[in-house]
Amino acid sequence: MNHRRRRIYEGKAKILYEGPEPGTLVQHFKDDTTAFNNEKHEIIEGKGVINNRISEFIFTKLNEIGIPTHFLRRLNMREQLIREVEIIPVEVVVRNVAAGSIAKRLGLEEGTPLPRSIVEFYYKSDELGDPIVSEEHITAFNWAAPQEIDDMMALSLRVNDFMTGLFAGIGIRLVDFKIEFGRHYEGEMMRVVLADEISPDSCRLWDIKTADKLDKDRFRQSLGGLMEAYQEVARRLGILAESDPGDRSRPVLVKSDR
Ligand SMILES: Nc1ncnc2c1ncn2[C@@H]1O[C@H](COP(=O)(O)OP(=O)(O)O)[C@@H](O)[C@H]1O
Ligand SMILES: [Mg+2]
Repeated sequence: MNHRRRRIYEGKAKILYEGPEPGTLVQHFKDDTTAFNNEKHEIIEGKGVINNRISEFIFTKLNEIGIPTHFLRRLNMREQLIREVEIIPVEVVVRNVAAGSIAKRLGLEEGTPLPRSIVEFYYKSDELGDPIVSEEHITAFNWAAPQEIDDMMALSLRVNDFMTGLFAGIGIRLVDFKIEFGRHYEGEMMRVVLADEISPDSCRLWDIKTADKLDKDRFRQSLGGLMEAYQEVARRLGILAESDPGDRSRPVLVKSDR
């Protein structure tokens, strides 16, 4: 693409470039796949292309139902145009079913439905390994104002309601997901908008019938078949990229033999 544009930030899974207009950025999805705070790292060819598509699909739907997001439009296979925001250094996790760290922390069996959807906050810090924090920490250290916490909480639950239905409709259980928010300034006005990405990298998605994992846990747990799983999610959402070899008759989810 444009080789002269300025790189603003390179993270673990994406690169941000300066956008074509002030206040915009280009979000580029890489194939890099990491877990356990970068301890485990692999390049999984084509992952960035699929995540760009899945995130585009979900953010477009969220924009349509009135949830403010940074997403403007997809530019090409790996890139999307987004609004530049001031990222709030808090990762919001919404959980419907026990898995991952909550299962460990509270001694719950993976797969146990939670009594209700639970919203958690983590301080966004790679050095510290994204520690869980409470609203008290967030306001005391001025990471976000009380009103912004309320906004993030309300938006997160709306995203959860929408995505739970979206995935249930294609035979997938939305176990949990992580999202990020940013401050978007328009003159004197500021509002909290959904930023970053929503993809199988940032969600736990289980097949309702078989309980197969269709998300990054395939990588974390070395189950194999990550691309096949992500492609299956894309296929069920009706968005398999036209660039994909796309043999739809072939069963795409290969069950791990381990
Ligand atoms: N609209 C936006 N404006 C500014 N920064 C953003 C926006 N959306 C996402 N980001 C930030 O860009 C980075 C995306 O790259 P990623 O590889 O996910 O980084 P990281 O390794 O920090 O998670 C994240 O740090 C995220 O907070
Ligand atoms: Mg990230």
